[in-house]
Amino acid sequence: MSSITSVMAQQYSDSQKLAARARINSKYTIAEVGWFPWVAGKLPLEAGDRILDVGCGPGWFWSATANGLLEALDLTLADLSPGMVEEAAQRCKPLTFRSVQGQQADASVLPFDDGSFDAVIAMHMLYHLPDPAKGIAEMYRVLKPGGFLAVTTNGAGNMRRMYELTTVFGSPPSDPAAAAFGFETAERLM
Ligand SMILES: C[S@@+](CC[C@H](N)C(=O)[O-])C[C@H]1O[C@@H](n2cnc3c(N)ncnc32)[C@H](O)[C@@H]1O
Repeated sequence: MSSITSVMAQQYSDSQKLAARARINSKYTIAEVGWFPWVAGKLPLEAGDRILDVGCGPGWFWSATANGLLEALDLTLADLSPGMVEEAAQRCKPLTFRSVQGQQADASVLPFDDGSFDAVIAMHMLYHLPDPAKGIAEMYRVLKPGGFLAVTTNGAGNMRRMYELTTVFGSPPSDPAAAAFGFETAERLM
């Protein structure tokens, strides 16, 4: 098990630590368009789609983008952490979706039938899996023919200066998430 997966339970029992990391990103980002709206603009969703968000975290992506999405979407929120599932479902149920379901689930063994979803989304989570290829295969299995899988991850230079600075505390000199499942690995496995 890599160090990034061994600290997972501690990191993700609820959204507090993830929120601290997100604050650093929002404070220092130089992007002109926010991350979540940028991703939403790339998703070829269609009205009536059944969507599975694997590793949904607290559901921030959906609360940031739901107003601009098509109607009649059925959203399933899945995460290894029951605390995250609960928070995401609470956040997303009042939004504009036709239905919202929460499901505690491991991305390596998804508890859904083959061909269940039009869209599967896995944002910044595949680097946590001991075998990301297995997670991708599972996501592909639960997709309907012609559906799409959208995955996001960190680039190799992610927060480079921050990682350099924190080596004084014994931290790795670059982002371990990018080493485990960076752009090149993602492209190859997909
Ligand atoms: C960095 S957060 C990303 C949250 C959300 N996708 C986002 O982009 O805002 C990673 C999430 O993946 C979840 N996760 C980690 N390993 C998982 C696994 N094997 N199966 C499902 N979810 C997992 C964690 O609990 C956490 O909520």
